Amino acid sequence: MSQAAALPDFHPLTVIRDWQEGEAFRLGDALTGVAVFGATGSGKTSGAAKHLAIGYLAADFGGLVLCAKKEERRQWVEWAAATDRSEDLVIIDASGDWRFNFLDWEASRAGEGAGLTLNIVALLDEIAGAIAGGAGKAEGGGDNKFFEDALHHMNINLVDLPLFAGLPVSLPLLRSIVNTAPRSPAEALSEAWQQESVCAAMLREAKKVVSEQSTNNLEDYEECRQYWLQEFPALSEKTRSIITLSFSMLVRPFLTRPLRKLFSTDTNITPEDAFKGKIIIIDLPVQEFRLAGRVANLAWKYCFQVAVLRRMQPKGRYLRPVFLWADEAQNFITEFDAEYQAVARSAGGCTVYLTQNRESYRRVLGNNDAVDSLLGNLQAKFFCQNSGDTNEWAAKLFGEHWLKVKTTSFSSNAGSPDGKDSTSSSGGISTSEQRRFLVEPSLFTVLKRGGEIYDFQVEAIVYKGGHIFADGSPFKLLTFNQR
Ligand SMILES: Nc1ncnc2c1ncn2[C@@H]1O[C@H](COP(=O)(O)OP(=O)(O)O)[C@@H](O)[C@H]1O
Ligand SMILES: [Mg+2]
Repeated sequence: MSQAAALPDFHPLTVIRDWQEGEAFRLGDALTGVAVFGATGSGKTSGAAKHLAIGYLAADFGGLVLCAKKEERRQWVEWAAATDRSEDLVIIDASGDWRFNFLDWEASRAGEGAGLTLNIVALLDEIAGAIAGGAGKAEGGGDNKFFEDALHHMNINLVDLPLFAGLPVSLPLLRSIVNTAPRSPAEALSEAWQQESVCAAMLREAKKVVSEQSTNNLEDYEECRQYWLQEFPALSEKTRSIITLSFSMLVRPFLTRPLRKLFSTDTNITPEDAFKGKIIIIDLPVQEFRLAGRVANLAWKYCFQVAVLRRMQPKGRYLRPVFLWADEAQNFITEFDAEYQAVARSAGGCTVYLTQNRESYRRVLGNNDAVDSLLGNLQAKFFCQNSGDTNEWAAKLFGEHWLKVKTTSFSSNAGSPDGKDSTSSSGGISTSEQRRFLVEPSLFTVLKRGGEIYDFQVEAIVYKGGHIFADGSPFKLLTFNQR
């Protein structure tokens, strides 16, 4: 379109992909968030994802790419080369060339006092929740919530302690505090514990520092002291071992190879670099690095989300959009995502999540409400070839219409029993109106899946949050070429 040339940088009407006949995927659509669905091998990655990624890169977006699979790095290197963005790639891998100490980053970001504890605890909660969530959040329910809350409560008191003592918060220090915290009320009173425990030493130092301050931190410090000397030792053995184990599972990956160098030393890359156009790839795929890979991706993801939400709208121009990209997104989703994407659009945040079906998200988030809330905030949807419930759900999303259905009927009566009346028959064509899906769920089962058999064509049905396309329907069939 000719108007495109006249648009200011990053204007919402900027065409990201031209779909012909006046239709397009625009920058404003990217801001509404994107969800892609399709069976394994349906062409999500080589069709829909590539189509959008090339568009986002060509339009100069910055971004963060979470990696589930090994080949994702190579893919992005290719896509960046194709759009002349190679210089903007920052590939975070096990080599440790790129490092991000998120605790230092958070500490240098936060303003005065209390915010810092809450932010660090939120990050720890987010990662702990995601680790636990993967292991069957769907069933757990009440019990899980109890342990999550108990861990959260410990984390608050844990992060507060070095802050009261005026020391930098670091994961090794936090771990030492937990490991040397008193395991019983008697131990908390014992001379040996007072002498040898890091936790005890921190409490003494914190008290000294807080007493010398003119601010009224003393009451807050007393809360913290009470937690470590009374509440924590009085926890049931089971509760205490679950929360300390959860904590140690959470921090251990950051303190051992390969993540230690990447997260617990210095910093030469931060989420804000994406705002200047960097494309940060977390090449620690879950497929290869397992828990460490997930933890690395989640830490980056959460810090990136927080950074996006803190972005300020500059006067008189548009923010550079930044994508948060996750293929096989079931590895990385959390409840925070819905909240994030709802607010992120005004901060230039564009989420793109790909997965097989709704069930993949339900397994992680545990219930339909959380999934609905996530998908409600990813308004643009691409449906590739698929089977199962997701097809019905998509069909409902597109809506129904009244269809005139003609039926032919023929009936005959074999006359009256007494034989006086002759046999009669009646027949006719009647028209009735029936409600039908605009797109029958079965249509999704036969979309083209790429590869040689389909001449490298991938089909997807796209929905743009209720946008009505030129032909009057709220969806459009697109064909992508894999080559
Ligand atoms: N660049 C390509 N050229 C040709 N065929 C491809 C290419 N990439 C993937 N394929 C094939 O196309 C199909 C869809 O692949 P893919 O996009 O990876 O699906 P999904 O991401 O949905 O699992 C698979 O059969 C795959 O082997
Ligand atoms: Mg794929």
